[in-house]
Amino acid sequence: MSTLLSQDAKALLDGLAEATLIVSADGTVLGLNRAAQQRLGSDLPGRSLLDRLAGDGQDALRFIQRCFGSSAPLVGALIVSDARGSERLKCRGNRIALSDGPAVLLRMLETDEDRFGALSRKVHELHTEITQRKHAEAVLQESLRERELLLRELQHRVKNNMQMLAGMLLGAAREATSNEAHLALRDAANRFSAVSAVQQLLYGSGRLDTIGSEALVNSLIASLAGMTRAPLETAKHVDPVDLPIEPATPIALVLNELLVNAVKYGVPAQGNQQIAVEFRHDAGHITMIVHDNGPGFTGPDAQRRASGLGLVRALLRQLGGRLDIENQGGARCMARFALPTPRAGESQ
Ligand SMILES: Nc1ncnc2c1ncn2[C@@H]1O[C@H](COP(=O)(O)OP(=O)(O)OP(=O)(O)O)[C@@H](O)[C@H]1O
Ligand SMILES: [Mg+2]
Repeated sequence: MSTLLSQDAKALLDGLAEATLIVSADGTVLGLNRAAQQRLGSDLPGRSLLDRLAGDGQDALRFIQRCFGSSAPLVGALIVSDARGSERLKCRGNRIALSDGPAVLLRMLETDEDRFGALSRKVHELHTEITQRKHAEAVLQESLRERELLLRELQHRVKNNMQMLAGMLLGAAREATSNEAHLALRDAANRFSAVSAVQQLLYGSGRLDTIGSEALVNSLIASLAGMTRAPLETAKHVDPVDLPIEPATPIALVLNELLVNAVKYGVPAQGNQQIAVEFRHDAGHITMIVHDNGPGFTGPDAQRRASGLGLVRALLRQLGGRLDIENQGGARCMARFALPTPRAGESQ
């Protein structure tokens, strides 16, 4: 510290954080602390403070003298001038008694700029960070959109390819010379359509990971129309469920087998053929029932492994479920299984 002062006055200046000077009544600087040196320069002790002030300094001198006459702090302002320009410093001054005699203690008040400078710097930093994050987020969003578009495109192609293959199988069925080959190819085309229905619904659903139970059931029922020329009455009850894509295909295949059997074998001796379909969701379990008004199961054929119902049982085993068949005014097939929950992190 630059000072002409005794130890007690130096200690007083050292103890103050704000820029502080001790001046005599005529404005001669007796000492100043480090903060004041940074503002006013360290060569001041022994010089007149007025030399550092703008104008002739008479206002400042009057203020210093008023302070000299007051033991209570008075508020005023000093306009400091240097090569960089002038700066108005608010300050508080009062008389103090030093061992060397009375003098004026001048304490600079913090300006708003000092007080809020750090805060506004922080705000500026945060603003910069937010801008950078927004930019990074926009880049991520863009690449996500791009990936979704690619996935949609892929689904579109798969859907088209499956439709083309189903068409080829149906064409081959039509051209088959033996009845056996015709039926085998027709069944294959039909199963293929059930799988491709899932793909079509997925493509048309606006979602990438689930398909709706109602759309799936409707699509499978609609595809029965081409199987028989006789009038077919269908009734349905479907609980709306978003089916995750993975189990959706086996679910479609199971329901399709049961529906196809109902159309093929559930033909009543008289009256219209009726098929009732239920798709129920209860506490994470799905129950699918296909009930027709035909003759019901009559022989041991329903237990054959290499057949539609064999496939149904195998698929239901994969889903952790089972098939129950009974006769109740016709064949009634009930498939029940737990709906797998989507894997963590899997979403649209
Ligand atoms: N709804 C039904 N009503 C009466 N009998 C049925 C019904 N569903 C199936 N069956 C009987 O059960 C047998 C086995 O059916 P399953 O679906 O396993 O084989 P499939 O229909 O004969 O052949 P695939 O399904 O392989 O074309 C049928 O042949 C039929 O006799
Ligand atoms: Mg069958």
